Amino acid sequence: MPQNIFVLTGAGISAESGLGTFRDKRGEGIWAKFDPMKLATPEAFARDPEAVLAFYDLRRRNLLNAKPNAAHFALARLEDALGKRDDSLTLVTQNIDDLHERAGSRRVIHMHGELLKARCGRCEAVRRWLDDLTISDICPNCCDAGALRPHVVWFGEMPLALDLIDQALRKADLFVAVGTSGAVYPAAGFVAEARAYGLRTCEINLEAADNADLFDEQRLGPASETVPAWVEELVGGSAE
Ligand code: OAD
Repeated sequence: MPQNIFVLTGAGISAESGLGTFRDKRGEGIWAKFDPMKLATPEAFARDPEAVLAFYDLRRRNLLNAKPNAAHFALARLEDALGKRDDSLTLVTQNIDDLHERAGSRRVIHMHGELLKARCGRCEAVRRWLDDLTISDICPNCCDAGALRPHVVWFGEMPLALDLIDQALRKADLFVAVGTSGAVYPAAGFVAEARAYGLRTCEINLEAADNADLFDEQRLGPASETVPAWVEELVGGSAE
């Protein structure tokens, strides 16, 4: 029975909550409709901030209307159950939504940032932000106008908390990737690191990821079914 479990989630875990994924084998993901180089890079923001902010405004509004699904709730249950027996769950997400938190997960590492926060490009202050963002908004911390941006990681920027993630990987026994295509690094490389550290690896996904051959075990199906079933197998018999 694994004691320290590391779970990496991607857009697939939030798909059944109505938030789109970025890429799929049918070519219907967000990045098939929108060009990430025009909407999710620092250069795009410098060139056309209105277009970038409008893209994230739409996603923020969708998120505020979305609800966590059974997969998010199952991971919160897993955190609780492992905590009670002095084991641990490290939950790292590439998602910028807050559905893990709303399902009850207490400790979530958002390596690609958080959509419901804004960051000031001048003073770097980060704060919760639920409204649309405009180029004339004033930073509540430094009072400068025009530098607020979504607190998200764009292509060409460094993901967050990589040291913390590496420490957690080193002490884990089991690595599980849920709903991620394995196309974007460094997250796509965590499974190889996990193997190098001697962890068992498991993929839970709708369809096999690009790096599927690096997983010891594969469970294919919608996350709202596969994740609760996996959690039930792990902790169903234990006193929670
Ligand atoms: P992708 O959109 O690349 O991959 C989504 C994965 O979820 C695919 O493997 C799908 O098969 C799977 N999937 C879809 N529906 C599912 C369901 N109901 N249940 C389970 N799995 C399902 O999303 P990510 O891998 O998260 O980064 O993308 C990684 C990064 O690329 C994102 O964080 C974002 C994007 O560009 C930035 O914006 C920096």
